[in-house]
Amino acid sequence: MDESAPSQSQRKNSMDESAPSQPQRRSSMDEPVLKVKDLVVSFGTEGGKKHLRAVDGVSFEVKPGSTLGIVGESGCGKSVTALGIISLLPRPSGYIEQGSVLLKASNGMKTPNGMKALNGMKTSNGIKAPNGMKTPNGMKTSNGIKAPNGMKTSNGMKTSNENSGYIELMNLDSQGMRAIRGKRISMIFQEPMTALNPVHRIKKQMNEVHGLHRPSMGVREMTAKSLELLDQVGIATPENVIECYPHQLSGGMRQRVMIAMALASEPDILIADEPTTALDVTVQAQILDLIRNLQKSKNMSVILITHDLGVIAENCNDAVVMYGGRVAERARVETLFKNPSHPYTRGLLHSIPARAPSPGTILPAIPGMVPSLEEMPKGCRFAPRCSHVGDICHKISPEEIAIKGDHGHFAACHLHAGETGTGTV
Ligand SMILES: Nc1ncnc2c1ncn2[C@@H]1O[C@H](COP(=O)(O)OP(=O)(O)OP(=O)(O)O)[C@@H](O)[C@H]1O
Ligand code: SF4
Ligand SMILES: [Mg+2]
Repeated sequence: MDESAPSQSQRKNSMDESAPSQPQRRSSMDEPVLKVKDLVVSFGTEGGKKHLRAVDGVSFEVKPGSTLGIVGESGCGKSVTALGIISLLPRPSGYIEQGSVLLKASNGMKTPNGMKALNGMKTSNGIKAPNGMKTPNGMKTSNGIKAPNGMKTSNGMKTSNENSGYIELMNLDSQGMRAIRGKRISMIFQEPMTALNPVHRIKKQMNEVHGLHRPSMGVREMTAKSLELLDQVGIATPENVIECYPHQLSGGMRQRVMIAMALASEPDILIADEPTTALDVTVQAQILDLIRNLQKSKNMSVILITHDLGVIAENCNDAVVMYGGRVAERARVETLFKNPSHPYTRGLLHSIPARAPSPGTILPAIPGMVPSLEEMPKGCRFAPRCSHVGDICHKISPEEIAIKGDHGHFAACHLHAGETGTGTV
């Protein structure tokens, strides 16, 4: 792999620039709660001698109160993207090489270093802060202001509008990030058993989450809140379950407990990484219904990670299709299903059982497999499996191209190069 190669969106950050009819300024209600830009996550292997990019220039936005699905086969970089967003990459090998993760600052929120905004100063993320206080992104406020991203501060320094009102998570230290994790962004992990502590009862684990976010809560109040949450996630006997150890619960129950813990802090964004893997079909449907209902009632934004386009169709508003650590295609879900524009997306769609022309039809599978990080081809990473491959595909990695006629629809494929007039397959 060419380590020094520019990432997918460095080559062309189509997220902002190439949208055909992107409005000039969005109202604050429509502003994304999360903006991921050109995220590059790498793993150091062989004692740090080799560095492999698992996520290479991923960009997307999450709108308030909506669900964004991230879909792709195993090994496409879905979990690593999510872990990168919340800075929980496996250490010491995993690290963020570059990129930006901007979280919308909430009104009156405490800054990540625990200081409450006090005396009317505007910081980079729109939080008011006391004089001289260090803001979450390391910028100094008031006198002696250092404004890293061109935003306007209290003494009139020039600033950029686009990211004002946002916290740059990449600039937070571990303490700052802990304050965001759980409180603003929660995650349901792919493996619930690895996320639950096997030696503690559910009560202790849930109460710990409350204690972290509401230190003034007494034990009795915490337990009452935990029981309420277990009830909300559809556990019939919360008073029994709360006294159990994780191994005493079924897979579905553990998954519900995980969701209850993720909701304990009433996050603005819930990341659910394959929340139904290893569950039987009935429980899968229940868990997805549960997330959907909780999302509506709490107006949360959800990032739902799955390998199943059927799950995307039923649960998501927007979708990002990932392949080989890159974004292959992204669009509104209706658009993606109506006008799939990347051969990989079309391959995934053809392999959905519900789309088979008649029962008993053998579904067409995409030939081959996702390559390992060490074997990623140059040029288009999907080329070895693509039936439309051309010479250019082996040489040049395709940029994200705005699909003609569709708003907010992008595909990284040379087949669409004509749409922006930059070469053909
Ligand atoms: N700790 C690690 N060290 C080295 N490589 C890793 C590590 N974790 C993940 N990877 C690699 O990063 C790539 C992306 O992995 P990731 O777990 O994000 O895939 P995924 O899309 O979530 O797949 P799945 O659907 O199986 O969960 C894979 O090639 C994987 O082998
Ligand atoms: S760029 Fe080429 S190989 Fe890649 S998906 Fe498009 S046509 Fe196929
Ligand atoms: Mg995964």
